[in-house]
Amino acid sequence: RSPLGPPPSSLRCSLPLLLALSFYSYLRVSQDNPTGPPAGRSLLILLWTLPFHTPVALSRCSELRPSEADCQLTTNRSQYPWADAVIVHHREVSYSPSKQLPPSPRPPGQRWVWFSMESPSHCRQLQALDGLFNLTMSYRSDSDVFTPYGWLEPWPGPPEPAGLNLSAKTELVAWVVSNWREDSARVRYYQQLRAHLPVHVFGRSHQQLPREAMARRLAQYKFYLAFENSQHRDYITEKLWNNALRAWAVPVVLGPSRQNYERFLPPDAFIHVEDFPSPQALAQHLRELDRDPARYLGYFRWRETLRPASGSWALSFCKACWRLQQDSRYQTVPSIASWFT
Ligand SMILES: *[C@@H]1O[C@H](CO)[C@@H](O)[C@H](O)[C@H]1NC(C)=O
Ligand SMILES: *[C@@H]1O[C@H](CO)[C@@H](O)[C@H](O)[C@H]1NC(C)=O
Ligand SMILES: *[C@@H]1O[C@H](CO)[C@@H](O)[C@H](O)[C@H]1NC(C)=O
Repeated sequence: RSPLGPPPSSLRCSLPLLLALSFYSYLRVSQDNPTGPPAGRSLLILLWTLPFHTPVALSRCSELRPSEADCQLTTNRSQYPWADAVIVHHREVSYSPSKQLPPSPRPPGQRWVWFSMESPSHCRQLQALDGLFNLTMSYRSDSDVFTPYGWLEPWPGPPEPAGLNLSAKTELVAWVVSNWREDSARVRYYQQLRAHLPVHVFGRSHQQLPREAMARRLAQYKFYLAFENSQHRDYITEKLWNNALRAWAVPVVLGPSRQNYERFLPPDAFIHVEDFPSPQALAQHLRELDRDPARYLGYFRWRETLRPASGSWALSFCKACWRLQQDSRYQTVPSIASWFT
């Protein structure tokens, strides 16, 4: 049976169409009988590189989502010949891909998953990956395995009790920055903003702020500068999800467009630098909100029905497990470099 239904009668005798239809049916049949592992066996997934060489406490994926079968996740490269899939975190192979990627030819049927949470501005040598990978895994929502830094989930209100304490918010604007580059868009914007408004800067070359103390310290601020290190589609990181939202500070964002942010957040959950013609106008807006608690509280209204959640490496690997188990049809990514921009 043709997957497209019977051809219209006027075309019934068109040979090219019949050929095209039967070829399409052929493809469908071969896809319906994937060459992947038989159902019931859990997939063996080799984590070729760990993000930033940092050990990850791997979860049993069935604990996170009991309805799904488990995968075996391993970092033991001796298992390469039997692995059903290999996840390659980009950073660790990016210095010398030809030497650092898994060996070729790959075992038959093995799928390679390309993984990055860094933006294209911080991924070198992407062209060296042309024609090697089967799936993509990243913060980009059109990845095969979508692993955002954070998201909002339904919350059956009232807002979390430990949340907003306005009387504890005695400070105005905070920013934590580790990678300070004088010529970056975000540092240039900050330099102009601070001419009109005090901004407390924490991080490597500024006032120290230990990770454990961060949420408590930042909760003293009304606003947080969630300025991304580079501007790319969907590149919205822990600066927003963890630093700002977890501390109940209103995020002031610099990153992709407002429209892009609104795909993930309600419009009144953040302030976008592009909402204002100049840093001076933004500064004025923040000062107005500082004097007008009712308006300021408007930036928390979404918390009556939603709450932020954030990802983890372990969850990301399980998402890959679930996606790889869903189907194992033939798929390749011709060029990561031309997609990941
Ligand atoms: C890695 O896998 C090999 C082959 O299965 C096994 O012999 C070896 O003991 C494993 N190494 C570790 C550290 O688990
Ligand atoms: C809110 O913050 C104020 C000032 O820091 C503190 O005295 C008060 O106990 C806090 N309230 C709650 C409910 O945590
Ligand atoms: C994975 O990609 C490689 C390289 O393009 C390809 O040779 C292989 O057939 C693909 N495997 C699957 C299962 O799609």
